[in-house]
Order: sequence, then C-alpha cells, then structure tokens
Amino acid sequence: MHTTGTDINIATALLQSGELVSIPTETVYGLGANALNTKAIARVFEAKKRPAFDPLILHFHNKDQISDYVIDIPKVFYKLYNRFSPGPITYILKKSPLVSDLITAGHKTVAVRFPKHPLCQKLLKQCNFPVAAPSANLFGRVSPTKAEHVAEQLSSEIAYILDGGECAVGLESTIIDLSEGHVKVLRLGGLALEEIEAELEQKIKTQTSSSNPKAPGMLSAHYSPGIKLLYGNLTSNLKLINPQRTGVIALCKKVSGIPDKNQRLLSPTCDLREAASELFQSLRSFNTEDVDVILAEEFPNEGLGRAINDRLKRASVK
Ligand code: TXA
Ligand code: MG
Repeated sequence: MHTTGTDINIATALLQSGELVSIPTETVYGLGANALNTKAIARVFEAKKRPAFDPLILHFHNKDQISDYVIDIPKVFYKLYNRFSPGPITYILKKSPLVSDLITAGHKTVAVRFPKHPLCQKLLKQCNFPVAAPSANLFGRVSPTKAEHVAEQLSSEIAYILDGGECAVGLESTIIDLSEGHVKVLRLGGLALEEIEAELEQKIKTQTSSSNPKAPGMLSAHYSPGIKLLYGNLTSNLKLINPQRTGVIALCKKVSGIPDKNQRLLSPTCDLREAASELFQSLRSFNTEDVDVILAEEFPNEGLGRAINDRLKRASVK
C-alpha cells in the first residue's frame, strides 16, 4: 500500500532502493523508477500492464545529467533545450550502452525529458540516477493529472505518491525525434507545434499515426475513459444518441438538448491552453449511471487544439 506526501527525501530514498514512486510533472503524473535498476523497470511494465514494446521516457533535472546516457547530440537539441526546457517537450536521441533495452524496447534511441514542476525538479536534482517514468495510469487509460487519480488505479503497486497538486499543462509532453538528422514530431502534446516551428524557422513533419513503428506507444486505441466516446461532427453524432443520457466535451459552446449537468465546457473563454489542462479531468468526470455515451467535438486544429484532437480521436470508438 502506498502513502501520499510531499517529502522528496522519502521519494528519493524509495526510488534509490528500487521502489516505484509516482512523481508530479507539469504535464501528467509519472510512474517513476530508478532507470539503472532493471528490476524496478520491469515492475513499471507489470504495474501498468504495459506491453514491453512501448518504451519509457528518462527524466532529468538538466542537460548536464544526460551525457552518460545519450550519444551524438545534434546542435538542434541545444537550440530547443535552451528555448523550451524545462517544459513539456521530450527529445528522442541516440542512446548510450548504459540505457537498458528494457527502457527503450530494443530501440537504439532513448526519450529524455526535463520536467518543469518545481517539486519534481528538486527530486530529480538530488537523484544520482535518471528516473524512468511513463504516465501513471493503467495501459490504455486516461493519464492522471492529480495524485488521487494515481491512487485510484495504481495504489497497490506504488510505495509513495509525491503530491505536487494539479498538473498545470494537463496533457503529455510533445515528443520530437532528433535521432535521424532531421526533426520530426512523434507525439503532439503540451508544447504547441507552432512554437517549435517558430523557433527552428522551419515546417516540421509530424508522424503520429498508430502504424508508426518509432512511437509504438501511440496506439490508436488509447486514453479510454471507460465510456463509449464519439468524436467529431456534433450535429451528425447527435442523431445517434439519446440526449438525456449523453455527455458532451466541447470548448466553450453548450450543445442544445443535452442536460447541463452532462456538459463539460473546457474553457469559458475558448482558450485552448485552459481546455488542454481540463481535458483528462473531464474525461474522467462522467459515470455510467448518468451517461451511456460521450460526444466530443472537434477542437480548432491549432496550438494545443491539435493535441486535444489527437487524444480525443484515440479515446473514441472507431
Ligand atoms: O508528459 C509526459 O511525457 C509524461 C510525463 C510523466 O513525463 N510521460 C509520458 O510517458 O507520457 P508515456 O510512457 O505514457 O508515453 C511515452 C511515449 C510512448 O508513447 C513511447 O512510445 C514514446 O514516448 N517513446 C519513448 N521512447 C521512445 C523512443 N526511443 N522512440 C520513440 N518513441 C519513444
Ligand atoms: Mg501514457
């Protein structure tokens, strides 16, 4: 059984000894393990019921900590790092032999990230090992944005939940592949694509489809809220449902005919950043006593709206 608290010394000692600790980040909570302890890494996969082909991200305090774990760092990494890290971006780089194949699922590359959450930063600063951490949810389910969400799904698997309050960004990091000589986005996330493009003064390819072998975790069925979700054109989907037992996820406009208590408007001011931070909570907020189906609208496909659409598409039934 776990305990929840805010003591980074307890968290560090438990990680050091091979226990699993949930860590707060600005994106979502992670299920952390000492990356140098292969038994602890194996337990992460078991606890989440995650398939072994889905690699983990290594978390560091800053770039000075990564030199033992990656090789051939390209210049573009430093450009992006100086502008966006710490923050909601994950870099795919070539791995050194020190990183176990269990972490990378056999890939020659490794994902590295520098979270911005202050408590997490303090923890990572005092760990003399990288912390490997996937999102702290059961495989295929919605990522946790509060300590309570972690406890609901994983309490029996974890020694400690480091409680850092609500995650400010609320969506997983944007994953960018720098290992092949050109820049490519593998997962849309908490850092808008437009911001990266502006910094690099170039258009960036996104390759986020489920058939992409470089990001095996981006399966098409993911982020399941446990209730059937229909994503896309609200007007046509409305014809398929009983309005009294339907939930709505929309940016800022109510859908007429659906009870108010079942409607989740993610941002009263139509702000995509705010909407992103509310998305996962709202997906969790419906229960099967009130609704049989959730209708989610298509969000504006810009800024964090792209990542919101990506998650809703994956949460929906085909
Ligand atoms: O915001 C986040 O990134 C959160 C917090 C906890 O840091 N973490 C997170 O981890 O979302 P996870 O495991 O749920 O998603 C990591 C994704 C997976 O889809 C995986 O396929 C991809 O990163 N990934 C990891 N290593 C990779 C690699 N070497 N090449 C390509 N994709 C990789
Ligand atoms: Mg995940």
